Amino acid sequence: MMKHWIVERDVDNSESYPHIVDAAKILQQNEVIAFPTETVYGLGANAKSDTAVGKIFKAKGRPSDNPLIVHISNIDQLEELVEDVSGDAANLIDAFWPGPLTIIFKNKENVLSEKVTAGLPSVGIRMPDHPVALAIIEASGLPIAAPSANRSGKPSPTTAQHVIDDLEDLIAGVVDGGETGIGVESTVVDCTGTSPIVLRPGGVTIEQLEEVVGLVEVDPSLKEGKGAPKSPGMKYTHYAPDAPVYLVDGTREDLQKLVDNKKAEGLKVGVLTTEEFMDDFEADVILSVGRREDLTTVARSLYDTLRAFNKSDVDIIFAEMFPEEGVGLAIMNRLQKAAGYRVVKG
Ligand code: TXA
Ligand code: MG
Repeated sequence: MMKHWIVERDVDNSESYPHIVDAAKILQQNEVIAFPTETVYGLGANAKSDTAVGKIFKAKGRPSDNPLIVHISNIDQLEELVEDVSGDAANLIDAFWPGPLTIIFKNKENVLSEKVTAGLPSVGIRMPDHPVALAIIEASGLPIAAPSANRSGKPSPTTAQHVIDDLEDLIAGVVDGGETGIGVESTVVDCTGTSPIVLRPGGVTIEQLEEVVGLVEVDPSLKEGKGAPKSPGMKYTHYAPDAPVYLVDGTREDLQKLVDNKKAEGLKVGVLTTEEFMDDFEADVILSVGRREDLTTVARSLYDTLRAFNKSDVDIIFAEMFPEEGVGLAIMNRLQKAAGYRVVKG
């Protein structure tokens, strides 16, 4: 049976929290457990062990060419793992760690399991800003490989229940620290070249990065969903609910017309909207993803809302679009992927 440990979010010292000590022991035994971070729940394992990391790929059904992010709790762990820290990387660490920023470094050889890096000469590392995650990593004394704790292709988990829905009995346990805060994954920035390149938009915005390192390049394949992305994980279908999602680039009236046409065909139609526009639509299932006025609320509820459509067995979902500013860039990136890049013009 899979363990479900409930802990309070604000653990301060791992010694006094037996569940944290238990979870760390299980990691030392090369088993996998899920735990909360400030972005989404992660599925953690000893990043030095092929056996342990192999269990992550198996539980998630993840393609083996998609590398994992290594999580640390302490800046001293970095030296063991990476060849060198560029000036930009050092500034980004100062500004954003602990926090939702993954930095790609050139890795030291023969330290991490090759399964973590999927054979690449680089490794993604982050220090999560969540007391439970930090306490577990610290108590384990290990670098912890942790992808999002969902089955591959599903929306990432922002509650322990999402983890249980996807991975029950495929993993040793889940440490339940309540809902995660940010709701979309970390921003991935490649610092192995001459200047930083954003490979995945996430919790730290481009605007925030540019305040620290000046203009940053964004991997051009991200926007159009075309070309080979530099981040292997970005090429796979992701975040998709069971029903097909269509993004609507138009007015609310345009969206309602699309709904009406599909209803006339006898389909059960869902609408993904915002609190501001909830009352403007007529459809079988209408779900609000947050407040347009404050996109952090949309990021927080995005995956839960995508998952909630599966409970209502709609045949098709029409979704509003968001401005690609601030965390809106990460929201639109995930929505585009959930929609398989299908956009209908109004
Ligand atoms: O917020 C997060 O980052 C969450 C929490 C659990 O920390 N983790 C997460 O991991 O989103 P995952 O495995 O779902 O996504 C990792 C992303 C993938 O797109 C992967 O391809 C990319 O990071 N990545 C990892 N190592 C890389 C590397 N060496 N070079 C390029 N991309 C890399
Ligand atoms: Mg993921």
